[in-house]
Amino acid sequence: MKIKMILNNKKQFLHLLLLADEQEDMIDKYLERGDMFALYDDDLKSVCVVTCEGDHIYELKNIATYEKFQGKGYGKQLVKYILDYYNGKCKTMFVGTGDSPLTIPFYESCGFVISHRVKNFFTDNYNHPIFECGIQLIDMIYLRKDF
Ligand SMILES: CC(C)(COP(=O)(O)OP(=O)(O)OC[C@H]1O[C@@H](n2cnc3c(N)ncnc32)[C@H](O)[C@@H]1OP(=O)(O)O)[C@@H](O)C(=O)NCCC(=O)NCCS
Repeated sequence: MKIKMILNNKKQFLHLLLLADEQEDMIDKYLERGDMFALYDDDLKSVCVVTCEGDHIYELKNIATYEKFQGKGYGKQLVKYILDYYNGKCKTMFVGTGDSPLTIPFYESCGFVISHRVKNFFTDNYNHPIFECGIQLIDMIYLRKDF
C-alpha cells in the first residue's frame, strides 16, 4: 500500500470525490488550493483533500473510498497518514459532514470529536437537496482533532 501526494490534474479523481461531495462546483471551491492524497493498494482505492483554513488550522474537505472497497480500512489509513503528515504544522484539523450515521462514526473512529454545527449549510449552498440514508442533509456538523 502506498499514499501519494497528487500535485497535477486533480480532476482525474473527480469520479471518486463526487462520492463524498456530489456537486462539482462545490468541489471546485477547494480542489486547487487543497493538498490531495491518493491511496493505492495495487490500484487506486481512496482519495482525500485537505485545505489550510488559517494559522495552523486545516480542514479535511473530502475523503472517499471506492464503494467496493469501503469498510476494509483504507479510509482510516488515509486519515492516519494525513494526521501524521500535518503533525507539527497543524494545531487543529476540522472535518465537516452531514448529520449522517454513515460518516460521523467513521470520523469518530479516526479520533475526531464533535465540534460545532453550521445551520442550513447544505440547503444554503447546494443547488439541490442532498440525501443520505433517505434523510435530507441540512446542517453541516464539524468534528475536530486537536494536536
Ligand atoms: C467515509 C469513507 C471515506 C470511509 O472510508 P472506508 O475506507 O470505508 O473506511 P474504513 O474501512 O477505514 O473504516 C474505518 C472505520 O470507520 C468505520 N466505518 C466506516 N464506515 C462506517 C459506517 N458506514 N458506519 C459505521 N462505521 C463505519 C469502520 O467500522 C472502521 O472502524 P474500525 O476501524 O473501528 O472498525 C467511505 O465510506 C466513503 O467513501 N463513503 C462515501 C463518501 C463519503 O461519504 N465521504 C465522507 C464525506 S463527509
